[in-house]
Amino acid sequence: MIEMSSVDDLLTVKDLGKTFSDAGRLSFGSSSSGSVRAVDGASFSVKPGETLALVGESGCGKSTLGRLLLRLIQPTDGEVLFEGRDITALGAAEMRMMRARMQMVFQDPYGSLSPRRSIAQIISEPLEVFGLAKSSRERRERVAELLVQVGLSPSFMDRYPRQFSGGQRQRIGIARAISVNPQFIVADEPVSALDVSVQAQIVNLLQDLQAERKFSYLFIAHDLAVVRHIADRVAVMYLGRIVEIGPKKSVYALPQHPYTQALLSAAPEPDPDRKANRIVLQGDVPSPSRVPPGCSFHTRCPIAKDICKVDRPALREVSPNQFSACHFATPNPLTQAG
Ligand SMILES: Nc1ncnc2c1ncn2[C@@H]1O[C@H](COP(=O)(O)OP(=O)(O)O)[C@@H](O)[C@H]1O
Ligand SMILES: [Mg+2]
Repeated sequence: MIEMSSVDDLLTVKDLGKTFSDAGRLSFGSSSSGSVRAVDGASFSVKPGETLALVGESGCGKSTLGRLLLRLIQPTDGEVLFEGRDITALGAAEMRMMRARMQMVFQDPYGSLSPRRSIAQIISEPLEVFGLAKSSRERRERVAELLVQVGLSPSFMDRYPRQFSGGQRQRIGIARAISVNPQFIVADEPVSALDVSVQAQIVNLLQDLQAERKFSYLFIAHDLAVVRHIADRVAVMYLGRIVEIGPKKSVYALPQHPYTQALLSAAPEPDPDRKANRIVLQGDVPSPSRVPPGCSFHTRCPIAKDICKVDRPALREVSPNQFSACHFATPNPLTQAG
């Protein structure tokens, strides 16, 4: 077991796992194996003010992991320590107080805002729940300030979500999330549903707010291009497991896991020399209800050997602070001392 946490971490996750059983799901006699191991053995930490990006293909468990960190769903196994306290064991009243410190920004700015509530009602709801504004006048003042902070006019306060574009709605969702001064925000693909032209504006807004307020992000994205600017560290997930995690610079410059290498080589690349080395992965992502034995990536890995079919590689520190779950990962020369 690797020790990847220290006392000054905001959040520490230890061997976190989530299994969804298919009880209650219709299966129509299909060959369903019964359950999905959506997150398996996740161990990492997030420091105050840091942005940890979580990337991986659709269905690999990113949203499940994000929800586990906020205890929006209960883990099957493992711990989530927030400032050293295991929040998976907190009672309802204590967890309620904890919610003010951990917030979520959702992927779908259309579905996540209640259509029948005004912008003022939507943004001030957490303020009311946590008793952070005493009078309705105080609440409206707070909402006006928050709208300005996310780049919207306070005059929008009495309008309804349908009157706004996707980018504006995401700004409203962000205002709601920051209204209670959280220390940790899970942003679950916050720009994936937006036009390319507004994606950078929302990423910049998230970054500016963090610079001002010093909170930490788990920033979830399905591709590495989106998080290139905002991340301090990057974690790469494949079929429920973190297969690589490390400082942004070293992960982008010298990815150690073949899956990270493939993800990076598929990203738009201005450098023509690198484009020539594009790695095209064979086959589709296996079903998460039937994760291959050994290294779960071996069925698509260009460098897999016999050992990979039977022996699951542990996440190990291959270079300083850069961890990879690959039998054949080699130290990154850029980060070697001396
Ligand atoms: N509430 C749920 N019940 C059953 N299976 C679920 C549930 N939520 C997610 N899953 C399954 O867990 C796996 C990971 O899903 P998810 O975390 O949404 O992935 P991602 O966000 O990376 O696309 C998928 O196979 C998905 O079908
Ligand atoms: Mg998701």
